[in-house]
Amino acid sequence: MKLMASETKPDISTVVVQTALEPNIPQEEKEKRKRLKIIAISVIVLVVVVTAAIVAVVYVVGKQAEDTFKTAMLPYTDESGKSSSQKVTVTAREEKFEIAGTGTAVFDFDKSLLAYKPEKMSKPTCFLTAVNTSTLLSPEKMKGLLEDKKVSNLRSNSSGHAEYMSSGVVVPNKDFLSPMSKELCKDAEVMWMVPKPDCVDQNSLARKKRACYYYYYCYIRYCDYLYCYYTCYWWLYC
Ligand SMILES: *[C@@H]1O[C@H](CO)[C@@H](O)[C@H](O)[C@H]1NC(C)=O
Ligand SMILES: *[C@@H]1O[C@H](CO)[C@@H](O)[C@H](O)[C@H]1NC(C)=O
Repeated sequence: MKLMASETKPDISTVVVQTALEPNIPQEEKEKRKRLKIIAISVIVLVVVVTAAIVAVVYVVGKQAEDTFKTAMLPYTDESGKSSSQKVTVTAREEKFEIAGTGTAVFDFDKSLLAYKPEKMSKPTCFLTAVNTSTLLSPEKMKGLLEDKKVSNLRSNSSGHAEYMSSGVVVPNKDFLSPMSKELCKDAEVMWMVPKPDCVDQNSLARKKRACYYYYYCYIRYCDYLYCYYTCYWWLYC
């Protein structure tokens, strides 16, 4: 009797409530029910946690599928008849073009930026400029072009010309760059480039500074089976 008293005394209120609801249940049975309750709650918690984990995994996998890379070689012949090929990598919001021995360009469709890193420079440098991405082939259309097996050698019928020159501003922080641009420029100085006015030419700049070079990169802007339109970006860098 003494043991019982000491057991029930501390939570008298609980006992009162239990007594009111379940008047004739022995102590042992109550303990059993308590244990079962704990087990049931544990099972529910476990089920919720496992379900949340599954939902999270499905979400992450789905997100990866959405960002899936499409990579392919895109052979082309430019206006001057020179054949070349670009390794193209397309994600949902970026397009990257690598030309072995020349350079790599990344178009960021979220921020409307073009980063170009020429290979043959004494100091690794990325040229960064604003581009109107609505005039370009969207990542979706570019993916379609890469998947189209009939596109074996895209001949250029005409091309546009865009010239940029260094603004003298080195971009101090690369955090805002898109993932592929950031990767491309991680060990390089990022130079902000601006449209080159017609009055500025390489020779007049060379007189003031040591040496100026033109680097260029051509982007397929529009293509169907009969007609391909390229824009060539010329970068004047001193
Ligand atoms: C981008 O190009 C499109 C199509 O040529 C034009 O309608 C639009 O005004 C341009 N946007 C900017 C910001 O220049
Ligand atoms: C573009 O070039 C291809 C091949 O050189 C030619 O067959 C086609 O007619 C040209 N298209 C136009 C619109 O000039």
